Amino acid sequence: MPIKMLTLEDLDLEGKRVFARVDINTPIHPETGEMMEQARFEEAVATVRDLHDSKVIVASHQGRVARSDYTSLDVHAKIMAKMLGKKVDFVPDVFGPEALSRMDSMSDGDVLMLDNLRFAAEENQEYKPADAEKTFLVKRISAHVDACALDAFSTAHRSSPSIVGFAGLVPTCAGRTVGRELRMLDRIVSVEKGPYVTVLGGAKVNDRLEAIDALIANNRADKVLLCGVVGLVFLKAAGKLRWDLGVDGEQKLVAQAKKLLEDEPDRYALPVDVAVKGGDGRKEVQPAQLDSPTKIMDIGSKTVESYSRHIKGAGTVFMSGPPGAFEWDEFSVGTEGLLRAMASSFGTTIISGGHLSTALRKYGIHDQIDHISTAGGALVQYLAGKRLPLIDALERAAAKWGNGKQ
Ligand code: 3PG
Repeated sequence: MPIKMLTLEDLDLEGKRVFARVDINTPIHPETGEMMEQARFEEAVATVRDLHDSKVIVASHQGRVARSDYTSLDVHAKIMAKMLGKKVDFVPDVFGPEALSRMDSMSDGDVLMLDNLRFAAEENQEYKPADAEKTFLVKRISAHVDACALDAFSTAHRSSPSIVGFAGLVPTCAGRTVGRELRMLDRIVSVEKGPYVTVLGGAKVNDRLEAIDALIANNRADKVLLCGVVGLVFLKAAGKLRWDLGVDGEQKLVAQAKKLLEDEPDRYALPVDVAVKGGDGRKEVQPAQLDSPTKIMDIGSKTVESYSRHIKGAGTVFMSGPPGAFEWDEFSVGTEGLLRAMASSFGTTIISGGHLSTALRKYGIHDQIDHISTAGGALVQYLAGKRLPLIDALERAAAKWGNGKQ
C-alpha cells in the first residue's frame, strides 16, 4: 500500500524555519580521521537546496558514542557548503542556548548545521513518539522551528527523538532522499522475484546478523553469501580461523554465527579462499592454511567465481557491505568482482550503503544497478517487511497536518 506522507510541496515553507533531519553519518578512517566517502551528502543537499527560500537547520548524527567515528560535524558543514555552493554556518551545540539563539537570528536562505545530535544523551535512546515529544531535544528545538523535513532514510529504523518526536508538534514532511528511496523501493518490491541471494560484507557484524534473521523471516534470503569481516566471523564459527579477530563482542557474535550454520548449513556460503598481504602485494590462501593471526584484506578469486555464479542465477540480489578493503587496488578484486557480477545479472539488483555506492562509481557501473541506497540497517528492515519508525512518523504527520498548506 502506498505510504501517505507529505512532501516539501505540501507545506508552505517559504520564509519558515525548517528543521531538516538528514543522515550524513559517514564512515571515517580510524587512522587518518578522514571521511571515506560522501554519498549521503549528495542525497541530503537535494533537500537543503530545495528549501532555498526557508531558514534551514540541518541536523544529523555521526558515529556511535565511544567509537572512532564519533565526531563533531564541523567538517560536515564545510563539505555541505562546498556541495551547495553557499555558506553553511556551524554551531558547536545541539539544543543549548547557543544553538537556539543562532536559529532565532537566521534570515531566509540561511543554512545552519547543528553539532552531532548524538552529543545529546537523549538522541542515543529509542522512544515511543509521545515520549520522544517530551525529550528536551525535541521540546526545545520544536519551540524554535515552524516545520520539520524528515530526510534520514538511512536512520528510518531508529525511533530516536529527532526521528519520531517532531511529527506531532510541528508540520512534518518527507525530504527528497526519503521520497526517492521509497519510490524506487516500492517499484522494486512490486517486481522482485526469487531466488533471493543476499551478499553480506563489511564490518558491522551485529547489524548483518540482525539482517540475516529479518531477511530469512521474510523469505528474502534463500542463499546468503558471506564476506568482509562478517565472513571472517562465520569462518571462525566454522572452525576455519584459529585466532581472535578483535571484533567488538566477538564471542557472542561467533556463537550466533555458529548456531545459524548448524541450523541451516546449506543456506550459507563462506569464503573458500582469502587474500592477505604477501611479499609483493596480494597473496591468496585458504583460510585454514593461516596458522597465526594475519590481517585478511579480501576474499580470494575462487570465492569471487563461485559467489558470482550465485549472483548471476538470482532473481533478486541484495548486497550490503564491501567484501574487502577495496580502497587498496590489490584488495579490490572481491568488491569489483561481485559488483560486476551484480551489474551483469538479469535479476533485480539492490546495493546498500555508501561504501558500495562509492565502489560502483569507481568501477563506472553504477548505472547498471536497479537501486543504490545509502541506507544499511534501515533498508534491510524495509526489505524484511518491518514497519520503520520514520515512516510511521511521516504517516502520523500526514494525518495531522495534511489538510491544506500549513
Ligand atoms: C546507518 O549508518 O545505518 C545510520 O546512519 C544509522 O546509524 P546507527 O546504525 O549508528 O544507528
